[in-house]
Amino acid sequence: MPLMTDVSRLSDRVLMGPGPSNPYPEVVLAMGRPMLGHLDPEFIALLDETNGRLREVFRTTNSLTFPISATGSAGMEAAFVNVIRPGDVAVVGVNGVFGERMCDVAGRCGAEVVRVEADWGQPIDPQALLDAHPSPAVIAIVHAETSTGVRNDVACLGTAKRDALLVVDCVTSLAGIPVEIDGWGVDLAYSGTQKCLGAPPGLAPFTASERAVERIVPRPQSWYLDLNMIAAYVTGGGARAYHHTAPISMIFALHAALGAVLDEGLEAAWARHRECGEALQAGLQALGFELFAAEGHRLPELTSVWVPLDRLPNGMDEAGARRWLLDCYGIEVGGGLGPVAGRVWRVGCMGHTARMRNVTLLLGALEELLGS
Ligand SMILES: Cc1ncc(COP(=O)(O)O)c(C=O)c1O
Repeated sequence: MPLMTDVSRLSDRVLMGPGPSNPYPEVVLAMGRPMLGHLDPEFIALLDETNGRLREVFRTTNSLTFPISATGSAGMEAAFVNVIRPGDVAVVGVNGVFGERMCDVAGRCGAEVVRVEADWGQPIDPQALLDAHPSPAVIAIVHAETSTGVRNDVACLGTAKRDALLVVDCVTSLAGIPVEIDGWGVDLAYSGTQKCLGAPPGLAPFTASERAVERIVPRPQSWYLDLNMIAAYVTGGGARAYHHTAPISMIFALHAALGAVLDEGLEAAWARHRECGEALQAGLQALGFELFAAEGHRLPELTSVWVPLDRLPNGMDEAGARRWLLDCYGIEVGGGLGPVAGRVWRVGCMGHTARMRNVTLLLGALEELLGS
């Protein structure tokens, strides 16, 4: 007899890692709706409404705004593969894993990548990004670097980008902190559903300006992520051309998540994330934790913190402490990546998880763990 997982015994976690976060209750309900065909007029109307809601949350009027049918990484690939021609210069800010990944993706698309680096935990200097090359095709930056908890400044880049397209990774920022696609002059941006949007992983909300659309290469290297082909389905008016089968239940989920955010009010959602993040960061410091990300550039929705290894009980290591939180309180927090693996935690407070009750729960559990 093969071993079978008893799914009825899977736990209900408090998801305070770098994502996924806990989805909003209305999102969970939406996922159980009866299936519709992907060309059903009712589904097309729901998809149109979802795209409209995305425009509100991205703060854009871009007509090419829709959820890509894959996770945030597909948003990153789509942003580069559609506009990079071999030999184009792409200036990329690198201060963590996801900036590094942008370089890899841009390089695979044939770009000559010019890296602008900052230490882990520090923000990218926007002027260094603008000065790195006289005529790049693309300037790219991660708004909220999930590997370090740092917010990179984007607002000042758009007015100084000259002829370049500005690409911004909003995976961990959208609906958690202010994002102003039109106001900041962003040309291509993508996000993920599993962070501050409060839905499960599976879609990459995406938006492209008219300038970006004009620069789409004739035949992108990726068939699946070819924006012109996808656009014929997602923005096709009455006549929708089949491209791939839309993940119906995930669109239901995103529609509900965006509804929850907009019902609350986008600015109220930002404020809730800010208040929870500030309370968490103050509480951690009161317990003697040292924050990792540079002051003034800390994300409220993703807190990075040095693990006080010498204060953990009975020789417990970093992974053991995370396991204790999971076993005793059902709380998931994330481990560090790259050079700070084993020494830093990443604590998310995003989407439906961004509630003061969860902050209090985690701080209480940590107080018990450290015996302070
Ligand atoms: C900033 C950032 N960019 C891109 C990604 C990739 O998204 P996904 O894991 O959904 O493919 C992540 C995932 O955590 C991220 O945090």
